[in-house]
Amino acid sequence: MKNFKKDFPWFEANKGITYLDSGATTLKPQCVIDFVNKYMIEESYNSHNTDSKYTYSTTKIIYETKEKLANYLGTKAENIIFTPGATYSINMVSQGIKHILNEGDEILLNTLEHASNLLPWFELAKEKKLIIKYIENKDIFLTEDEILSSISPKTRLISFANGTNLIGGSLNAEEISVRIKEKNPNTIICIDGTQYVPLNKMNLMNSKIDFLACSAHKMCAPTGIGLLYLNDEMKKHLKPTIYGGGMNKSIKKDSYSQMDSLAKYEAGTLNILGIYGWNAALDYLNNLDFKDVKNNLFEIKKYLDKEINKIPGFSVINDNVNSYITIFRHETLFSQDLAGYLGQNKIIVRSGFSCAKLAHYNTKYDQFVRVSLYVYSDYEDVDKLIEVLKKYKKGDEINWV
Ligand SMILES: Cc1ncc(COP(=O)(O)O)c(C=O)c1O
Repeated sequence: MKNFKKDFPWFEANKGITYLDSGATTLKPQCVIDFVNKYMIEESYNSHNTDSKYTYSTTKIIYETKEKLANYLGTKAENIIFTPGATYSINMVSQGIKHILNEGDEILLNTLEHASNLLPWFELAKEKKLIIKYIENKDIFLTEDEILSSISPKTRLISFANGTNLIGGSLNAEEISVRIKEKNPNTIICIDGTQYVPLNKMNLMNSKIDFLACSAHKMCAPTGIGLLYLNDEMKKHLKPTIYGGGMNKSIKKDSYSQMDSLAKYEAGTLNILGIYGWNAALDYLNNLDFKDVKNNLFEIKKYLDKEINKIPGFSVINDNVNSYITIFRHETLFSQDLAGYLGQNKIIVRSGFSCAKLAHYNTKYDQFVRVSLYVYSDYEDVDKLIEVLKKYKKGDEINWV
């Protein structure tokens, strides 16, 4: 496997530190940093200015980035809206389609979801008197059969992640969406692709997915930029939730008209730096062999899980999942203390629930340390973690404070 670390200047800038928190955000390769810098040094234009040949270069990159995203996701640029991130995108859906939902309609969720794929639906349910139902999933992951058997004639909307941020794993949302619509064509399907998209291309065109949300910072690009995919049917229904410059055709003293294109959902100046970064990140990712990269990460995780389970007092919760996320616990230590101990030993991980605060329904335990891998993660990183866990002695977690 190629040494991807060379491409990420973070490692040179942080010698001796081990980064195992890519599920929270990924590091950025040099090509992304360079392209963002190019925009800041050579351009710095507003994308709403297309009046000169100079400023047009910025608009061109924005269009080009949407094209690249469309290719990556197997759709058309005309079905992609830039947003500040996945959280924002899911909120846009919940607020933008409320007029087509009626009191008593059922929303289907599950307890493994990130807060960003729960709370927008809670708020919507409260406002529109909808009923939230949960898929009964037996294990710490969700299966296609569990999803399909939960769809009823009353299911008006389902929202699930095709890869979750606490457990990992992956679901073929494209195929599942077709089967959901066979069972109930009236079900609106929203996919939280935030963890899946960073190492998986998609085929949205051949799916029945209505909405898909994801964030660029989970795939080598800057924070503050993400997207919402919506299919042609949902274009007829989704209402804008933010109003202002760039989304209107005309304004009178007492009324205005909206753009016909998806620009109507992109009011205000876009995060142009973020879009430049995403553009370069897509080039970087498109040059990888995802199958090889994922297989390598799966093997690293398997090795890590085996080694953690051998250390007295420690156990892995999701060692039965093909994933690049490991969650583990110590039989007596509070997870934040354990993460603090690892931090003191120059290892960056995440503690707690990682925003999936209903996951204890599936995991039995209520707090963990999460290790999440990405392209640049290798055996050396996890060996460092194993070494530090092995030398842990009771009380070490407070000795550093
Ligand atoms: C599965 C999942 N959904 C949604 C989000 C929210 O993403 P953002 O904070 O970029 O809006 C995250 C971030 O961790 C996530 O992992």
